[in-house]
Amino acid sequence: MAKQIQAIRGMKDILPQQTPLWQYLEGRVRSVLGRYGYDEIRMPIVEMTELFKRSIGEVTDIVEKEMYTFEDRNGDSLTLRPEGTAGCVRAGLENGLIFNQTQRLWYQGPMFRHERPQKGRYRQFHQIGVEAFGLEGPDIDLELILITARLWKELGLQGLELQLNTLGTADERARYRDVLVDYFQDHHNQLDEDSRRRLESNPLRILDTKNPEMAEVVAQAPTLMEHLSETSLDHFAQLRQGLDSAGVSYVLNPRLVRGLDYYSRTVFEWVTDQLGAQGTVCAGGRYDGLVEQLGGRPTSAVGFAMGLERLIALLETTDATQQLPTVDLYLIMMGETAKSRGMQLAEELRDVLPDLRLISHCGGGGFKSQFKKADKSQARYAAILGDDEVAKGEIGLKPLRDNGEQQQVKISDLAGILADKL
Ligand code: HAM
Repeated sequence: MAKQIQAIRGMKDILPQQTPLWQYLEGRVRSVLGRYGYDEIRMPIVEMTELFKRSIGEVTDIVEKEMYTFEDRNGDSLTLRPEGTAGCVRAGLENGLIFNQTQRLWYQGPMFRHERPQKGRYRQFHQIGVEAFGLEGPDIDLELILITARLWKELGLQGLELQLNTLGTADERARYRDVLVDYFQDHHNQLDEDSRRRLESNPLRILDTKNPEMAEVVAQAPTLMEHLSETSLDHFAQLRQGLDSAGVSYVLNPRLVRGLDYYSRTVFEWVTDQLGAQGTVCAGGRYDGLVEQLGGRPTSAVGFAMGLERLIALLETTDATQQLPTVDLYLIMMGETAKSRGMQLAEELRDVLPDLRLISHCGGGGFKSQFKKADKSQARYAAILGDDEVAKGEIGLKPLRDNGEQQQVKISDLAGILADKL
């Protein structure tokens, strides 16, 4: 036998037993977003590399070491999208959706980052992202967070914590950056190698260090909050007031800086402790500078993205799996007449019961083997049709879940009986 080829490390198949839960999650998210007036946009999975360099930032982990970048046959540098915001802004600008308009958009699909794979962290993963353009906030910031809170409620997810911070405007951050560089330079001997490197390139990221030996020096560092303008502080205060009024609790996390450079003012993450190290299931914030940075006019923008693998892992701990649709009826057919009448009957049932999930047995075989397949399909009922039954205009109906008795019913009554039972 030829050697089998394996999937790429960090990239997973989503198997048929798992897709119902994915469809359930995606369906609920789609429903909630529709109810808030958000429209779906679909962007290509591949973009010019330059797009991500200019938006996510040259000195972020994503751009420095995680992108799937390659040269195409024309010699252009292309990249598999590591996230959706950059592509969404690019598409919005290119198609005239952003200038002088407000847009509430969402997208879904695979993203690619060459990270070290572990539980909850993959090289191909899936996001549903939401972006709102042309709204200064903080009302729209609040709306986005309320959407996420509603989602958790409707999905039955508990124990998620909302962490909130403000990063101020680009100017405010630039001033704060200078203050921070001065501080860390004064404490140079307490910095690890990574942080010394970041002191030049991206000093704010030092605050995000996971190195316990640096906890002290980071804890004592000046905070951005002390260097924000009245307007930024007011924006943040209003958002917090809105969350308080809506009864959405949050934790202020001044160390929340995010791994992408485009943020300004509001940033937030929804975090759980049920998933181990990769506990952020949803993250986002405001990025008022990005549209201009990508060649548009200055435009307010805010959004977030959820990691679907992580939400699925959480859903698996709830009773959501019990709400998934199962097969209603498995049709067993014995004999040539029964086979042809059965196929026809299945179509008639599908005409009158559009929600019926019906499997018609294919591939022949005796009664026993067909019945085994019916059982394995997890169907709630089996319908049994033989040549004799066809002659009498009858069909057997047997509940498969609770060992119920088989009943003989009129073929012409079957649709009505199923409609009552299901
Ligand atoms: P992000 O924080 O990079 O933000 O990713 C958002 C979410 O995607 C994370 O919270 C996590 O749930 C999931 N995620 C990220 N990387 C992985 C991975 N390697 N494996 C599994 N899940 C992962 C963004 O992508 C921004 N575009 C969000 C945004 C939209 N900000 C404004 N608008």
